Amino acid sequence: ALKGTFSSKAQKQTQRSYTHLQTNASYKVAILGAAGGIGQPLALLVKMSPLVSELNLYDIANVKGVAADLSHCNTPSKVSDFTGASELANCLKEVDVVVIPAGVPRKPGMTRDDLFNINANIVRTLIECVADNCPDAFIHIISNPVNSTVPIAAEVLKQKGVYDPKKLFGVTTLDVVRANTFLAQRKNLKLIDVDVPVVGGHAGITILPLLSRAKPSVSLTDEEVEELTLRIQNAGTEVVEAKAGAGSATLSMAYAAARFVESSLRALDGDSDVYECAYVESDLTDLPFFASRIKLGRDGVESVISSELQGLTEYEEKALEALKPELKASIEKGVAFAQKQT
Ligand code: NAI
Repeated sequence: ALKGTFSSKAQKQTQRSYTHLQTNASYKVAILGAAGGIGQPLALLVKMSPLVSELNLYDIANVKGVAADLSHCNTPSKVSDFTGASELANCLKEVDVVVIPAGVPRKPGMTRDDLFNINANIVRTLIECVADNCPDAFIHIISNPVNSTVPIAAEVLKQKGVYDPKKLFGVTTLDVVRANTFLAQRKNLKLIDVDVPVVGGHAGITILPLLSRAKPSVSLTDEEVEELTLRIQNAGTEVVEAKAGAGSATLSMAYAAARFVESSLRALDGDSDVYECAYVESDLTDLPFFASRIKLGRDGVESVISSELQGLTEYEEKALEALKPELKASIEKGVAFAQKQT
């Protein structure tokens, strides 16, 4: 059993499920882009889950070896590999959760938006196949720029007549994971207890950690808030620069994505106490998509937690207003891309 892997309330529950390998749950998970930097460690972590009975790994190359390797782990799920477009439909049949880390990552000096041209096409093509083969699945989008790829996925699903806004998620869990880690380090807190909601989007200033809403509640000076906020917003770039051309966050991302998968599976399994932050269709602001804390249930997003945006500090209010134009433009860029294709 994996002990101490995840932290905070959601993660404590995950730990519990990892320690009870006896379960009747048997969900089918597909990872698209499974041979990549994120895909491989993510596949490993999902292979550890007692809630998964089948793990389908898809990539355009190199996925056979990854699947053969993982299949030797003596955890319950059966691992299968699928290579190339002709095998994608089979990979997606009867899948409950589809996770998409397919695409190119950033290199030093690049923004997430610089990835748009390549990744927008990849996400569009993959979602078309998801729509045709597992329209009821929870869809987790990791491929950047998430602020645009999620609206693209929504448009494609609408074009196919199968869009369920409650089941499409942009994965922003890594922003929460980073916020928790950095706040705990800064204030010398026990990591497992720390939980910081992060709202907005998943790029630069659109990432807005609500430090005033952190649990446990901590007192921070204006300088500390500024310093932590900037570090959380630039944490992805910190990794891109440290890797110096060899890619972006993969291990911490896989960890974060695995947490979001596990939360989704617990929700599907009837756990009525599952909360995560994610970038979803939302009426919390005047923007059509917005990341915030959500309650997850069997049918996907059960509710968007609106109380967290009330009573923000002046700093947070300003940052919220400042992020809206950029997030709006990224959403519109995604929608325009998807509509142009029809
Ligand atoms: P990588 O290049 O190591 O892996 C990407 C994988 O996708 C490769 O195995 C590649 O063969 C595969 N791929 C490419 N085109 C494909 C297609 N049409 N169908 C299926 N698979 C395809 O990249 P890495 O580091 O795994 O990053 C993947 C994506 O995740 C990038 O877009 C990156 O920006 C994003 N990312 C998102 C984060 C988030 O917080 N949401 C954090 C870190 C990265």
